[in-house]
Amino acid sequence: MGGGRGMSEEEPFEEEPLKKLKSLTPELIKTLKDKGYFTIESLAVEAPNSLFETVGARPGFTLDKAREIVHEARDSLQIVIMDALQLYEIEKKRKRYTTGSKALDELLGGGIPEEEMTEFTGEYEVGKSEVCMTVAILAAEKGVNSWFLDSEGGITGKRLAEMAEARGLDPKKILPHIYQGAVYGTEHLLFLIENAHKPIKDKNIKIIIIDSFVSPFRAEYPGRELLYQRQPLINRCQRRLINYMRAYKLAVITTEQVMAKPEAAPLYHVRPEVLNPPVGGHIVSHAVSHRVYLQKPAGETSKRLATLVASNYMPRETREFKITKAGVEDVPPEEKKEEKK
Ligand SMILES: Nc1ncnc2c1ncn2[C@@H]1O[C@H](COP(=O)(O)OP(=O)(O)OP(=O)(O)O)[C@@H](O)[C@H]1O
Ligand SMILES: [Mg+2]
Repeated sequence: MGGGRGMSEEEPFEEEPLKKLKSLTPELIKTLKDKGYFTIESLAVEAPNSLFETVGARPGFTLDKAREIVHEARDSLQIVIMDALQLYEIEKKRKRYTTGSKALDELLGGGIPEEEMTEFTGEYEVGKSEVCMTVAILAAEKGVNSWFLDSEGGITGKRLAEMAEARGLDPKKILPHIYQGAVYGTEHLLFLIENAHKPIKDKNIKIIIIDSFVSPFRAEYPGRELLYQRQPLINRCQRRLINYMRAYKLAVITTEQVMAKPEAAPLYHVRPEVLNPPVGGHIVSHAVSHRVYLQKPAGETSKRLATLVASNYMPRETREFKITKAGVEDVPPEEKKEEKK
């Protein structure tokens, strides 16, 4: 795939990659591109029935044809099998995006990783949206584009501009790298995610942020009785996100609220995620590579605690950071000393 970092908006279109697939006619190539499938990879990672659903039945395009296309796309990509040392080398090369705090980056093994899904969870006002916005600002500083799917209105141009200015950056240069789209409900979120190929490619998106991921599902499918309807939809979104992550080398960040169960506080003091668990339940956590639980210590205004409560390859640890005008920052050493435990 083309698409280096920091490319201009008018990236010249490289030669047509889809022409390589024998199962495609020029008309079908045009249709697929209209639906956002620009690369062989984007077809190879698609389930045939999803491709069929997204494109829709039309002359020359049936479910069987969708299968043929997906299978040809998969066959044309080389099967990649590597030893674990090679895998390790590739993993080390993955980009990481800073959160604005060295301590928080360290907790995540060097920042938010591409090709992995990182989730921030915790009660209201703990800084979930603040972390996401700071990541976007600092990525933008390096010319990297991000895309917020915002279901709560927590992302504002005003706050992003304030963060940029507080960091000595020009909002007019930074904000154009940050895309925002409101999410109006689960159907809309599914629609956006299932049709995200085109904006990802057109806008050269490298970071997708969904704030908040689970709340639209909770609003429309409340309670345990509707869990059986809610979970497959969440699963569908996550599978799609994972496919994009791999095809386009994206970092995916999601936020998730927690259930408030304050009465259990004394019992579970050491494990906040047990006391107030993330609302998405097990189905969400399976796809997430790193789950960070944020807390606002009692009596604090700007300081926050971040605990890596689950990760594919890193230990549980807690770090402190701060939310200021500039967004997420490290706690200055002099403030740390004051409150030595
Ligand atoms: N301009 C600012 N200057 C300093 N701190 C700010 C500023 N704006 C917001 N904050 C801090 O960020 C907090 C809000 O954080 P954020 O919106 O990220 O919470 P959240 O975890 O996303 O909450 P919710 O679950 O309600 O979406 C505020 O309570 C405040 O402490
Ligand atoms: Mg928020």
